[in-house]
Amino acid sequence: MTPLRLTRTLLATALAAVLSTAAQAQNDKIKIGLMLPYTGTYAALGTAIENGFRLYLDENGGKLAGREVEFFKVDDESDPAKAPENANKLVKRDQVDVLVGTVHSGVAMGMAKVAKDTNTLLIVPNAGADAITGPLCAPNIFRTSFTNWQPAYAMGLVAAEKFKHKTAVTLTWKYAAGDESVRGFKEGFESKGGKVIKELSLPFPNVEFQALLTEIAALKPDAVYVFFAGGGAVKFVKDYAAAGLKDKIPLYGAGFLTDGTLEAQGEAANGLFTTLHYADDLPLIKDKAFRFAYAKTYKLQPDVYAVQGYDAAQLLAAGLKAAGGDIKKRDAVVQGMRTAKIDSPRGMFTMSKAHNPIQDIYLRKVDNKMNRSVSIAVKQLEDPARGCKM
Ligand code: BEZ
Repeated sequence: MTPLRLTRTLLATALAAVLSTAAQAQNDKIKIGLMLPYTGTYAALGTAIENGFRLYLDENGGKLAGREVEFFKVDDESDPAKAPENANKLVKRDQVDVLVGTVHSGVAMGMAKVAKDTNTLLIVPNAGADAITGPLCAPNIFRTSFTNWQPAYAMGLVAAEKFKHKTAVTLTWKYAAGDESVRGFKEGFESKGGKVIKELSLPFPNVEFQALLTEIAALKPDAVYVFFAGGGAVKFVKDYAAAGLKDKIPLYGAGFLTDGTLEAQGEAANGLFTTLHYADDLPLIKDKAFRFAYAKTYKLQPDVYAVQGYDAAQLLAAGLKAAGGDIKKRDAVVQGMRTAKIDSPRGMFTMSKAHNPIQDIYLRKVDNKMNRSVSIAVKQLEDPARGCKM
């Protein structure tokens, strides 16, 4: 063979290989690593996120931007100590294209570290750890939920401005989400002249509230602000009412206190005010369709966690669409996700520069087992993303 012919043959072979790899990239399933709690106090939250994610797929013929998907699942048990190992299993053993998780802020921070170290795409469908879209922010990390600061700051403003409270006691589980939620509430409340007179806490996921309720009764604040969610929120709201405090000292919370929990809380939750980026009666066509489809598919009412899971799938689909379905075209995927306008059941939202939703925060009131929207507490609230350099 002449040298010219040889060169041509080599070039043709190389081109064929490139084309076949590209074609394969288009045909391979998108590998999604779901790292969520399926046991423990946050188990129902993990299931709702997965349900929401799968609902979007069902509505789109089982595909994301025309691509088939394959799931790899890990129960993270809301245990931060196991987070690096669990996330690494998905990334290194299962070679997932994208990590989706999780609920607990401490676990999510472990996931964010693995995502950064391995440059894996991560979508956080709940955990509000401020740091994830703060100092830990990165081009490959996105969130479809909230920062712990967002609903808490809004509640602080409302407690001072609308309800005219002057003093408050806070109570939370002692971990990143609770600490940041209390900090956000305090920032809003004290910026409008209120004063947090005592910050109480107990370890996650303890539910021995009795001594703390006795202390609150003795302190006699104008109001109480708490961060609890899932099974712990159910128990707290019931204990607060049973201790006779509900009619004496108004109880407020980030909306997780009453989201996905109302059936179990019953009468004890009736009348509670909370703030969140979702409510059960939003006058939106998108939300009505979502709620109908979710109830039909799962025989359950959706909650904020289901919405965030649904939107995680929508966001990934937007990124994939921008990359022509090729998850390996990372820059195009990220660009598609950064600029996406997500038609969420909560209302339209866009991403901040730090990759966190800019969204309305609703003031809600529990009425007949529904979190009804009373007003928009803060319109298009953007997390300050302190410490994010991107
Ligand atoms: C968190 O850990 O960030 C969290 C958990 C449950 C509900 C909301 C936030």
